[in-house]
Amino acid sequence: MSFNVAIDGPAGAGKSTVARQLARQLGFIYVDTGAMYRAMALYFLRQGIGAKEEEKIGEAVSRVDVSIAYENGEQQVLLGGENVTGLLRTEEVGNMASASSVYPRVREKLVELQRRLASEADVVMDGRDIGTCVLPQAHVKVYLTASAACRAQRRYEELKEKGALGTHTLESIQADIEDRDYRDMHREVSPLRQAQDAVLVDSSEMSIDQVIEAIRRLMGR
Ligand code: DC
Repeated sequence: MSFNVAIDGPAGAGKSTVARQLARQLGFIYVDTGAMYRAMALYFLRQGIGAKEEEKIGEAVSRVDVSIAYENGEQQVLLGGENVTGLLRTEEVGNMASASSVYPRVREKLVELQRRLASEADVVMDGRDIGTCVLPQAHVKVYLTASAACRAQRRYEELKEKGALGTHTLESIQADIEDRDYRDMHREVSPLRQAQDAVLVDSSEMSIDQVIEAIRRLMGR
């Protein structure tokens, strides 16, 4: 049976950095589920569908083809065969992903893909509902969080480094993060919450390496 590690938590807690490096160290596959919701969101944006148009989103879900491939161990997300990985990490796509991921039809389609990947290989999977819904039997579950101020600061540095700050300020990024937290935690289907058997790790005062070490200790590896 494959070994599954589930890492959930709010935006900007460091999930993807931690999960990617941990997977590499262990020879596991890293599954970034946020990127799948972002790819769907990109499709809706391209189709000119608004975040509130549930019926149109539902119809679009039955047409959209999201799949995953790996290149040099890095997850690539394909939308109808087109590699859209490089287009997903914008604020616009992130906000649309948060808004459209409230719909059950969006979630059902992606959860099925996620479960299949986890059954086929040893994975470190990160997201919002991995420990609570997608992989309730995961061997290790971590709820990784950090203060909103700390997460906004990290996101700000990341965008600045990429030269992608645009009109964003530290304040607007923190406001976006708080809005997104609220939506992710209060939606009806699979809200973000710590699974009962997940271990809470607060990364506010921890380095990436310290977080990874803590998770490896939980795994006994
Ligand atoms: O982790 P991220 O910022 O790439 O995720 C983008 C959005 O996708 C997030 O705001 C909520 C949604 N999401 C989700 O609902 N469930 C997941 N397992 C992963 C992401």
